[in-house]
Amino acid sequence: MKHNIHIFDSANKTANAVAELIYKATVEKNKLGEYYNVALSGGTTPRELFVIMAQDYKELIPWESLRLFWVDERCVGPTDGESNYGMTYHALLSHELVLSENIFRMKGEEIPAVEAERYQKVLITELPARNGFPVFDLILLGIGNDGHTASIFPDNLAMLDSDLLVAVATHPESGQKRITLTAKTINNAEQVVFVVTGQSKSTIVAEILGGAEKAKLYPSSYIQTTQGSVDFYMDKSAAAKL
Ligand code: 6PG
Repeated sequence: MKHNIHIFDSANKTANAVAELIYKATVEKNKLGEYYNVALSGGTTPRELFVIMAQDYKELIPWESLRLFWVDERCVGPTDGESNYGMTYHALLSHELVLSENIFRMKGEEIPAVEAERYQKVLITELPARNGFPVFDLILLGIGNDGHTASIFPDNLAMLDSDLLVAVATHPESGQKRITLTAKTINNAEQVVFVVTGQSKSTIVAEILGGAEKAKLYPSSYIQTTQGSVDFYMDKSAAAKL
């Protein structure tokens, strides 16, 4: 696996670099009359990116060419404080820059297995396919302190081999149900970018990028594109132990 490592002075500069990547790629797709299909992670890290997109890139991104999907969603309603969609709505979607028809929300309020099945059909309908899996142009991922990514947790490494496109997962500590893209869907993307900031991630990042033996237990270690590469956009704090 080829790790493309991009290190920035701060979380804000890291988020800005990812916004610049999305801006430039969406412009290129717009010129071709095509969509730039992006799957978003939740948690806390991406929020700064979404704010920057809404504020600093408001006049730059050809928004009609950007379509947003989700990597995973907590099985709660969209207005719940835990909702990944809800976080994205407040930071970006509430600005009404992304066209509503280009927003493909995972419906956390639905029965998990039913929603996983529905979302799988959405991906089949809306995205090109390769190797039997949908192809996203970009998937943005975070890394949990236990090495999880998306909602693929260390206690469920079998999800790395699932042939489902979308699956139901369970958070190992809270028991919260999640809807998540599977590793095979993620790894079928044209580009996968981990966005990792903050000192709390420095150990897990060093273990993964350093190929530590214990990193074999981390789902994040098994993420790469079909071209065999994965990008890490990090601030200096998260990269401190590299
Ligand atoms: C989620 C995310 C999850 C997240 C990591 C990192 O639903 O929580 O998809 O995979 O990316 O847990 O979260 P932070 O950005 O909050 O550190």
